[in-house]
Amino acid sequence: MKKFSAYRIFEDNGKSAGRFVDLTLDDLDPGEVVIQAHYSSVNYKDALAATGAGKVIRRFPCVGGIDVSGVVASSADARFRAGDAVLVTGYDMGVAHDGGYAEMVRVPADWVVPLPQGLTLFDAMVLGTAGFTAGLAIHRLEQNESRPENGKVIVTGATGGVSSLAIRMLSQLGYQVVALTGKDAEHDYLKSLGAQEIIPRKDLVMGTRPLEKAQWAAALDSVGGDTLAWLTRTMQQNGAIASYGNAGGIELHTTVLPFILRGVRLLGIDSAATAMPLRRLIWQRLAGDLKPDASTQVAHVVPFADLPQVFPLLLQGKQRGRAVIEIKDSH
Ligand SMILES: NC(=O)c1ccc[n+]([C@@H]2O[C@H](COP(=O)([O-])OP(=O)(O)OC[C@H]3O[C@@H](n4cnc5c(N)ncnc54)[C@H](OP(=O)(O)O)[C@@H]3O)[C@@H](O)[C@H]2O)c1
Repeated sequence: MKKFSAYRIFEDNGKSAGRFVDLTLDDLDPGEVVIQAHYSSVNYKDALAATGAGKVIRRFPCVGGIDVSGVVASSADARFRAGDAVLVTGYDMGVAHDGGYAEMVRVPADWVVPLPQGLTLFDAMVLGTAGFTAGLAIHRLEQNESRPENGKVIVTGATGGVSSLAIRMLSQLGYQVVALTGKDAEHDYLKSLGAQEIIPRKDLVMGTRPLEKAQWAAALDSVGGDTLAWLTRTMQQNGAIASYGNAGGIELHTTVLPFILRGVRLLGIDSAATAMPLRRLIWQRLAGDLKPDASTQVAHVVPFADLPQVFPLLLQGKQRGRAVIEIKDSH
């Protein structure tokens, strides 16, 4: 059987450690659809999984990579045929089912999304789980009456993958975007994405009152912890927060006052388990009104062999935008 290269995560002496190995299809978890991978990406979750910094892998060994785009090599399911361009994000990929960091990927047909018209395989991984999460967060905010005319929208962890894409999408939809960032050197980048105001993280005075000055019509949060608590205390009447991240902590200490006196809504965003009808709808939007027109600025391409160098950057908060992993033809 033909061998191919994969970045597999093992548990060595109780610690997670990823390395490149040669596999055959028989080594992969079962599934009806075999995909020749063209691109994958690096999300925060991938960095947690590959390094063991977070306990996200539920089964060892596991090929890493929660995202992949590529071309169907074979399918035992009538919905897909050899040659179809497809993408997969989330579900158990890269955490409990062999994932996208491999030249060949095998998954259940129920996880596979046909590449929407208007996106290339590269575009799909500039977006990946990050873009899907940003799109889902915006969609959920809109379902909760967020509109550009309501006021300012704040995006935290602004230079990160999800938030960079969210800023671009919100700006294209006409929202007035405020970016909260820890990176002083990236203000021009954030402005180029469409942020109108930038708050340096070190200048932020959070206050301690249960309700502080109401500033935001909507918020998208990749940080959690004190930052999310501060957001709850500074939302305008009926403001909505989409909470998708924990880059700054998992705790949330606030009071009920924002909820009962200002009608604040806290919306949880879980991209991995999004059901297929909503998933397809979001991907259609990502290829349409949410499609970032500056995707090349958000993304940089990393050859497959250099994948492990990206993980520490994400964990140290040093990464900007999206790392797209070129798998096909990268040797
Ligand atoms: N719920 C879901 O479905 C879902 C999907 C995707 C991602 N996520 C989560 O969303 C978050 C962002 O993911 P990502 O892939 O965009 O990661 P990322 O590219 O590493 O972005 C995270 C950003 O958060 C900021 N940050 C990092 N450490 C921080 C700290 N200690 N305190 C405050 N801010 C900090 C940094 O931005 P600045 O330097 O600009 O502040 C960093 O670039 C992660 O927690 C991830 O697990 C959740």
